[in-house]
Amino acid sequence: MPAHRPRMFHELAPYYDALIAGKDTAAECRSLEALVGRYGRSPGRAWLDVACGTGRHLAILRRKFRVVGLDRSAEMLRVARRRLPGVRLVRGDMRSFDLGERFDVVSCLFSAIGHLATERELLRTFRTLASHLHPGGILLVEPWIDPEQFHPGFVHLATSRAPPLTVARLSYSRTRGRRSKVEYHYLIGIAGRGIRHVTETDVGLLVPRARLLEMCARAGLKARFLRRGLTPGRGLLVGQKPARGLRGRAKPGARRIVRTPPRTARRPRSRPMSEAPGRSSARPRRFSGDRSDRRP
Ligand SMILES: C[S@@+](CC[C@H](N)C(=O)[O-])C[C@H]1O[C@@H](n2cnc3c(N)ncnc32)[C@H](O)[C@@H]1O
Repeated sequence: MPAHRPRMFHELAPYYDALIAGKDTAAECRSLEALVGRYGRSPGRAWLDVACGTGRHLAILRRKFRVVGLDRSAEMLRVARRRLPGVRLVRGDMRSFDLGERFDVVSCLFSAIGHLATERELLRTFRTLASHLHPGGILLVEPWIDPEQFHPGFVHLATSRAPPLTVARLSYSRTRGRRSKVEYHYLIGIAGRGIRHVTETDVGLLVPRARLLEMCARAGLKARFLRRGLTPGRGLLVGQKPARGLRGRAKPGARRIVRTPPRTARRPRSRPMSEAPGRSSARPRRFSGDRSDRRP
């Protein structure tokens, strides 16, 4: 079968959960909840997950929070709707949505923010996300790989098995200016049906952590960067919306990089994301248990 080029996160949507079967979503949610407990100052239980994809985090978070999801892809949302009956799932663009309500927590995970094309879009997105927070609310953003950590020329192999699917993914990383460009080739074996070859190219914006913090502060949030987040090598950006009375005032000293962040609840069962495309520390190898992670 010839290689086929889908639109990112559209045609691959039915396979997405199988592709990231090695991610320990429950452990990620525990870590996120711990951060909300530590940094959140808003008393409510409303959680908005932006670029929620197939809703894998929402499915767990909904046990303790009133959750809402937003994503640009109708195909990803279709999977999410099957998983999350009764949950408000909105098709929208993270750069410019208005849900008409505010939340205690807004998250944007697994480097979805890396899909934005320019820093201008990034700032606009931070402002949109911040505008959906209650005073004292908390923003949790998992950024794309830091520019210094992204190494062009790297070839990465990942495999995953989640019957009836078996997937092998080979990727090649390059940079073009301040953008990463990762070409993926998927061989998707479906038991009883055959093998498909799908390719996709993922273009990401490479933004230094300090710059992300600056933009977060410009959006009115007190921002910090935790080096150890959910996915190894990516860290987590935490933005606090000032509690009532301080709203809109980003203190200059508020931006900082935290060197010893709280540990994630548990190490993901998947291979570390340091094996993600473009990271020189990664060494192509077959994953134990045939699990894989993938660049969103
Ligand atoms: C790798 S997935 C991450 C999904 C989910 N957060 C997770 O952790 O599994 C990236 C998601 O970002 C969404 N996305 C990309 N650009 C977007 C945008 N501008 N607005 C809203 N969603 C976007 C894609 O449709 C896709 O579902």
